Amino acid sequence: MRHITVVDGHPDPSEARLIHALSDRYVGAARAAGSEVRRINLSHTHVPMLRIAEDFYGASAPESLRQAQEDIAWADHLVFFFPLWHGTMPALFKAFIEQTFRPGFAMDYGGKNRFPKQLFKGKSARVIVTMGMPAFFYRTAFGGFGVKGFERSTLALCGIGPISETFLGGAGGESKKRGYAWLDLMERLAEQDSAPEARRRRQFVRAAARAALLLAGSYAAYLLASSTSKAWMRTPAEASGNLTVAGSVTAEKEALTPEHA
Ligand SMILES: Cc1cc2nc3c(=O)[nH]c(=O)nc-3n(C[C@H](O)[C@H](O)[C@H](O)COP(=O)(O)O)c2cc1C
Repeated sequence: MRHITVVDGHPDPSEARLIHALSDRYVGAARAAGSEVRRINLSHTHVPMLRIAEDFYGASAPESLRQAQEDIAWADHLVFFFPLWHGTMPALFKAFIEQTFRPGFAMDYGGKNRFPKQLFKGKSARVIVTMGMPAFFYRTAFGGFGVKGFERSTLALCGIGPISETFLGGAGGESKKRGYAWLDLMERLAEQDSAPEARRRRQFVRAAARAALLLAGSYAAYLLASSTSKAWMRTPAEASGNLTVAGSVTAEKEALTPEHA
């Protein structure tokens, strides 16, 4: 049975927020698929701002976040939901990460000049972000940097992987139809996350099919190219269809000999 911890990172507790509906659906579907799920709602959690570096290196997480740390440590798979605010995560979510992903818990700095030891190896993650702009635009024009930084400099640095990412663009003003489609998507993602071996098998079959297609395509292109180049090299006599390639040179020589003799 998979242990999944879902972090609902929207600062606003209002039920009108899309993120809450999405994370609700994900949690329900993951439980229905057999996973054990814990949930952290940041809008109901006291998250003090981290202000002093010594607190980060030397102290443990504030009392209000100890349970959250336990839930993170317990999980095989972490799912983070947040809305895109000013190109990245809301400040409350960032404060939560700074307070919980501490040395000795998420990574171990050991000594000076040493690459941090990754304490979250073996965990995977999914990051689901809603945004007002089209997702394609965020990915291309903005390079998705505000989310990539979190994935690479925090999650991957602590040893978490693989990390999947879902961007839902045009959020806030989405049509009902689109909203329902996103809820259905959450169910599919929760089912996939609950059975990662089945997903890996599907990915392997798809990759093998793609490789076979590529190989078949390359071979067909090779056959086509070699037959066109042979046709190109034929003499006019061969092209007329009267002679074989092997016989043509001799036949032309013989035809020329009497005139030049
Ligand atoms: C403070 C704030 C900053 C925002 N910044 C961005 C932004 O940089 N890019 C963007 O596409 N949408 C931005 N939005 C729109 C939100 O991402 C969007 O309203 C949200 O994803 C909708 O989900 P919700 O109903 O759960 O809040 C911002 C919204 C707020 C309130």
